[in-house]
Amino acid sequence: MDTDQQEMRFEDFVPEQGRYDIFHKVERLDAYIRKTNPGYIDGLGLPLTGAANAEVGIREKDGQEHDVIMLGSNSYLGITTHPQVIAASKKATDEFGYGMGAVSLYAGTSVLHRELEERIARFYKTEDAIMFPCGYSGNIGVISALCGPGDIVINDSANHASIFDGCRLSGATIKVYMHNNMKHLEKILKALPAEQQGRLIITDGVFSMHGDLAPLDQIVALAKAYNCRLMVDDAHGLGVVGATGRGTIEHFHCEGNVDLTCGTLSKAPGAIGGYCAGSSAMVRYLRFFARTYFFSTSIPAPTIAGLIEVFKLLETDTAGRRQLWNNINYMQQNLQILGFKLGSTGSAILPVVVGNESILGALQRDLRHAGVFTNVVTYPAVRRKECRLRVSIMNSLTREQMDKALNIFAECGRKYGLIP
Ligand SMILES: Cc1ncc(COP(=O)(O)O)c(C=O)c1O
Repeated sequence: MDTDQQEMRFEDFVPEQGRYDIFHKVERLDAYIRKTNPGYIDGLGLPLTGAANAEVGIREKDGQEHDVIMLGSNSYLGITTHPQVIAASKKATDEFGYGMGAVSLYAGTSVLHRELEERIARFYKTEDAIMFPCGYSGNIGVISALCGPGDIVINDSANHASIFDGCRLSGATIKVYMHNNMKHLEKILKALPAEQQGRLIITDGVFSMHGDLAPLDQIVALAKAYNCRLMVDDAHGLGVVGATGRGTIEHFHCEGNVDLTCGTLSKAPGAIGGYCAGSSAMVRYLRFFARTYFFSTSIPAPTIAGLIEVFKLLETDTAGRRQLWNNINYMQQNLQILGFKLGSTGSAILPVVVGNESILGALQRDLRHAGVFTNVVTYPAVRRKECRLRVSIMNSLTREQMDKALNIFAECGRKYGLIP
């Protein structure tokens, strides 16, 4: 076991509360890294030498390059290299250039942007949709445009950071219920004063660090009973969950009962961009009041052209999703057979719970050096005692690649005492 894995405590570096120069924390982190060289810093942000396919080259910190089986990409449908998507993107580069040069409401909207927004709206059977530069800014823009002081936003504790940041920026009162705990949610709703009517419940559809689904049918019922609006961020549900890949809302048959369907074009769609689908009036309001839309340059047309093809594929290509689920089930079952502790998942995210930060970085490094790329997740994304490797499954993984990855998992898991 690697003993040089020191615990890196985020809070040791960040809250200085005005006692020091604002750059003090920067120097302290720098000194800490020099002194302890914590293992998982070396494993973060390593550059890939090609597209995030099922197998890809990676450059280690010392400059050495080697191939890894990719279990760390959110491009679940392997769509980033789909020939139809690439061809459309190349064509749009020739026709529209590589960037837009303006925000959407000025000169930053092309005919392709409008086509994609209309396609997203049709996909979700809503009247319209608005796109943001990314999912993070989408959540911030939507929440801060709609909520303000006096309103109450009720969040699942495992919601994405961008949702909490949007809530903070809005100035609304933030309430948090324990992850997926409907009793706790109802307790909070029951306690709201009757005269307080500005209420929004927000939940991820698929939780990004856990892989499990929000019980949307129950949340819809509670939102109705307590007169709340409901926003769902289905970043990891789109293209993966639901009978036709329309996400968690489809999975729980909640179509028409969610006020704001938000998400990102960066996971299964494989590109970048946030979106919010809803009524025409809602989308018009957001175009004027969501500041991350109004004041931020729009996504380059070549990316938009690729995404138009992605939505065509999402509507027609069920085989890609079927293969994804075959792979998810295969990896989940076999990791469990090996004895790994997997959180309960309903998506392409398999959390391999390690629960001990002192081995997490070394485990991830050993897996990587042996040829398997996974992501390390710990505080502040999850509680330290629930730290984990986040394994993401792509439909392009072959049986051979998955078996090789499972063998490497078995070896490393035994080395660190995680499995018998
Ligand atoms: C649930 C959720 N919402 C929003 C985001 C932010 O999306 P983006 O990476 O497109 O900014 C992510 C992931 O990054 C996410 O997992």
